[in-house]
Amino acid sequence: MPRPAKPSYICNACGAGSARWLGRCPSCGAWNTLEEAPTMPALSPRRSSAEPLAAAQPVQPLAAIEAQEVARTPTGHAELDRALGGGIVAGGVVLLGGDPGIGKSTLLLQALHALHSAGVAALYVTGEESGAQVALRARRLGIGASPMNVLAEIRLESILATLAEARPSVAVIDSIQTMYSDQLTSAPGSVAQVRECAAQLTRWAKAQGCTIILVGHVTKDGQLAGPRVLEHIVDTVLYFEGDTHSSFRLIRAIKNRFGAAGEIGVFAMTESGLKGVSNPSAIFLGQHERPVPGSCVLAALEGTRPMLVEVQALVDEAGAAPRRLSVGLDRERLAMLLAVLHRHAGVACGDQDVFINAVGGVRIAEPAADLAVMLAIGSSLSGRALPRGFIAFGEVGLAGEVRPAPRGQERLREAAKLGFSTALLPRANMPPRRSAKAFEGLRLLPVARVDEAIAAVRELRDEE
Ligand code: TYD
Ligand code: MG
Repeated sequence: MPRPAKPSYICNACGAGSARWLGRCPSCGAWNTLEEAPTMPALSPRRSSAEPLAAAQPVQPLAAIEAQEVARTPTGHAELDRALGGGIVAGGVVLLGGDPGIGKSTLLLQALHALHSAGVAALYVTGEESGAQVALRARRLGIGASPMNVLAEIRLESILATLAEARPSVAVIDSIQTMYSDQLTSAPGSVAQVRECAAQLTRWAKAQGCTIILVGHVTKDGQLAGPRVLEHIVDTVLYFEGDTHSSFRLIRAIKNRFGAAGEIGVFAMTESGLKGVSNPSAIFLGQHERPVPGSCVLAALEGTRPMLVEVQALVDEAGAAPRRLSVGLDRERLAMLLAVLHRHAGVACGDQDVFINAVGGVRIAEPAADLAVMLAIGSSLSGRALPRGFIAFGEVGLAGEVRPAPRGQERLREAAKLGFSTALLPRANMPPRRSAKAFEGLRLLPVARVDEAIAAVRELRDEE
């Protein structure tokens, strides 16, 4: 007689299973992480060992498998396509994460309309807003007359039934946290529900060749609710960044099975929705009439795209405990840079508050930002501005050395293109003489050590 299926629980931190609910995971020790797991159909009854298992798929030599480039359908928004690696892929599942209000629904509504107009049948499933609210937004975006289909529904089983009936080529689920499956008793938005709904929709996408875009909200600590759970289920993870107070938004590909991760798309939020920005360098530069202390322009590289970003620092006398604060740049790295600056260049900020900021709400994670951060700090501390038309890039090591950054020439080319006149760069990134023409008008100052960089800047100031 088959035993009744027991409910089981899975730890959402480490994935360990348990037959009972426990307050603390016995495997990893995390508190309150056990979540109800969907009951699995009982395993097939034990077969006799004489009976061979039928192989579902024959094995093939690797060389015999035909390698195919996946076909991509452009969404009609060049910046979104860039982040996606060229467009949407049939059967691909994309997760678009970001803070509430940053523009996820707006962008996807625009993209779906463009796809639908290009003959790709689209379905927009809204769980957060009513159909009327979506229609109102569409009118504001100037696409109120769009013939694409909208479904206001949060029950997974109904959504799957509609997908089976309407057979769209691309569907947006806005958002995955509002969806629930009948098979689970936990509330929508719980890890178990999010995982189950995403898994079922992914199965549908793969089986039917439909592209599914899941919208995910980000919790306060910066993680998608249902941390890590969704990221490995889906093919592509895109993340909306940017300051909700400024109009610029970035979409970064964190993971992409169909293209390069790290690619970014840049948008501006306007009266009529999100518009792509094809030359983003200028927007991450501050608007100063003349150079100000504490500001240094960094030649950054985001994905394959060089971008100029202003890094600002404010160094100010501290009260009892000096504070180190960072917006858009790595705070741990800031502490390290301050130590290197002290030890290898004799610049001491021990009794100072240090604040650093990347202008425009952009997040810079690459170590190549080190040199610019350091120079901005030095400039703020001394109260003297860096020279006009100055950029820097380069990683700084604990021994005070300046290490090369990837794709140095592209960074220099971007700076030359935007009319910068002086670049401080790692010696190892110094371009060969024969390519000097590409950086015409840009004076190159190669440095190998931190103290050399500080001295080079001092010399430049004295020249002015
Ligand atoms: P929304 O797409 O609703 O964000 P999310 O789905 O990520 O929560 O973004 C809405 C914000 O964008 C809201 O604050 C209003 C603003 N907005 C514009 O500035 N212009 C527009 O054309 C639209 C539709 C929204
Ligand atoms: Mg929304």
